[in-house]
Amino acid sequence: MNNPKRYLVTSALPYANGPLHIGHLAGVYVPSDIYTRYLRMRGRDVVSVCGSDEHGVPITIKARKEGTTPQAIVDRYHKLIRGSFEGLGIHFDIYSRTTSQTHAETASEFFKKLYEEGKFIEQTTEQYYDEEAGTFLADRYIVGTCPKCGAEGAYGDQCEKCGSTLSPDELLNPHSAVSGSVPVKRETKHWYLPLDQYEGFLREWILEGHKEWKSNVYGQCKSWLDGGLQPRAVSRDLDWGIPVPVKGGEGKVLYVWFDAPIGYISFTKELTEKWGEYWQDSETKLVEFIGKDNIVFHCIVFPAMLKAHGGFILPENVPANEFLNLEGEKISTSRNWAVWAHEYLEDFPGKQDVLRYVLCANAPETKDNDFTWKDFQARNNSELVAILGNFVNRALVLTHKYFDGRVPARGELNDYDRATIAELEAIRPSLERNIETYHFREALKDAMNIARIGNKYLADTEPWKLWGSGGEKLLHVEQSGSQARVATILNLALQITANLAIAIEPFMPFTAEKLKKLLHVEQSAPQLSWEGLGQINLLPEGHQIDTPELLFEKIEDDAIQRQLDKLAQSKSQNMEQETTVEQQIEPMKGLITYDDFTKMDIRVSTILSAERVPKTQKLLKLSVDTGIDKREIVSGIAEHFTPEELVGKQVLVLTNLEPRELRGILSRGMILMGQDPDGKLHLLQPDSATVPGASVS
Ligand code: 2FM
Ligand code: ZN
Repeated sequence: MNNPKRYLVTSALPYANGPLHIGHLAGVYVPSDIYTRYLRMRGRDVVSVCGSDEHGVPITIKARKEGTTPQAIVDRYHKLIRGSFEGLGIHFDIYSRTTSQTHAETASEFFKKLYEEGKFIEQTTEQYYDEEAGTFLADRYIVGTCPKCGAEGAYGDQCEKCGSTLSPDELLNPHSAVSGSVPVKRETKHWYLPLDQYEGFLREWILEGHKEWKSNVYGQCKSWLDGGLQPRAVSRDLDWGIPVPVKGGEGKVLYVWFDAPIGYISFTKELTEKWGEYWQDSETKLVEFIGKDNIVFHCIVFPAMLKAHGGFILPENVPANEFLNLEGEKISTSRNWAVWAHEYLEDFPGKQDVLRYVLCANAPETKDNDFTWKDFQARNNSELVAILGNFVNRALVLTHKYFDGRVPARGELNDYDRATIAELEAIRPSLERNIETYHFREALKDAMNIARIGNKYLADTEPWKLWGSGGEKLLHVEQSGSQARVATILNLALQITANLAIAIEPFMPFTAEKLKKLLHVEQSAPQLSWEGLGQINLLPEGHQIDTPELLFEKIEDDAIQRQLDKLAQSKSQNMEQETTVEQQIEPMKGLITYDDFTKMDIRVSTILSAERVPKTQKLLKLSVDTGIDKREIVSGIAEHFTPEELVGKQVLVLTNLEPRELRGILSRGMILMGQDPDGKLHLLQPDSATVPGASVS
């Protein structure tokens, strides 16, 4: 869409069940903030909308685990997330939440309209039901053994151990995470959006109409469409969410992925009475920033919902990013393998722009990327400090040294000056093209190239050599030829610095603000608006600049080591947890009476002989002296003990167990063993030899 009247920028609503981490920031929020700031600098009419996604099963699970309410969980994380955005200068015109009243009304109305117009299919299916807890179980609430890798504790929708996507029916030994009981199947009715009916529209709109979308987004849409779309349930049996507002919807809520994207509309309503201009006028350009796991919902499901409803515009673009990994591993909230935004802000006060810079320079725009602390340090020290900070500092310091901090007069330009100016002028169109086509990494390079141009200009012209030895500060008195040349060079260097203040603002707003202060210009000085980019008359001759200060400082090894140590700690905690999960101790059995116990006749017995039972793997035939008698016992321990090592050992034998015939041998009693969680067996023996027949009580 060329020259839209206005822009509506949405950013995926983060789930309010955990803090923000660098993956969220790099994937969604840093790019959307850069884009919005840029549009605003260009004087475009733009609103940027976001808020917390506060419904869904994981929030209820977290609440249950912590013994609190879902509302308490979302209140906590909504506040934390909003604070992190503010701290990092990620600005939205509204940051609301899906538990707001307006949202509940908007989402309900949306659902009702589709329902009344017959846009849904009603379907009754069998789903797992926990009879003990009296509730249907969402897939996440059913746990069992993974059919793919055998891991215990796999969820009804996914095994976290091997990553397989599962359905609850595939789980072995399914049981309810709520009560532990074995769930039963029960019929339940839900409403489905028949996505298959929208396939034609989606094909034409995306595959024909939006070939310009990023290839990862277009490719994912194509494979969904080629795979054939199925009706999708838009309601759930749950008590946390927006109630289904129609007859038969009692005890059911809207599926979180039905209500959440409607949040973009509700929040715009909360922001402005003119919300209709942003959502209903085809001259608005809607751009939705998301991560790759959200593509299907934003490109297929939500557009189908909007189409079914009618009257709303569709996104012009959905520039989804891939994932950011951390030190070579997938970021994981549950494993605490992340750099948390709120912790970063505490650990690196005043360095918001360093993180914004690194996450943009290394953004996973076309493929998954890796964040490493060493790279973070290197980009700070050798790019922000050595290129950007260094250039600005040299320009400001030299101006103070030779001209008392006043912008010196620019004399005649030579060819080299003109070539430098031409390079500077070429930045703006490239930067604009890159931002407008969502190539933010390239756009950031463009902005940084201004500092590179400046550094090269100073290094090549060497004003410090031209000044001569006189050393007195000159501005209004007559200058020697070479000093006039220095004035020209520094004038240009300062104009380049002012250009930097403009170009870096979308990426590093805190630094842009600091730089404007150093240049002693108003934050909203008209000459430093976007239109000034590429110009060399931004600072008038004689303008007094402030005392130089460094824009960035070096990050030392110890600060990086502290972060690496933090990660190492997460790793060792994870390993400990994994071992304890694997070695889970069996839960205690039901209580028995003392009488039950005394019914057992357990005696210290001596093993007299032992031999394998032919044609079996596990069985040993033991002859034991129980003190009462000598008898034969068949025991399934051949994989754990050799016959030789058993002979002569004293063990505990349950002597009054009903005899049982195994492989034609009458086994009378049972040898008692200790068993580790991993299955290893241990003989239970008296700590010193005793007579056979000693009873155990
Ligand atoms: O993936 C997520 O974090 C979701 N909470 C995104 C929702 S985006 C929108 F549709 F609300
Ligand atoms: Zn598995």
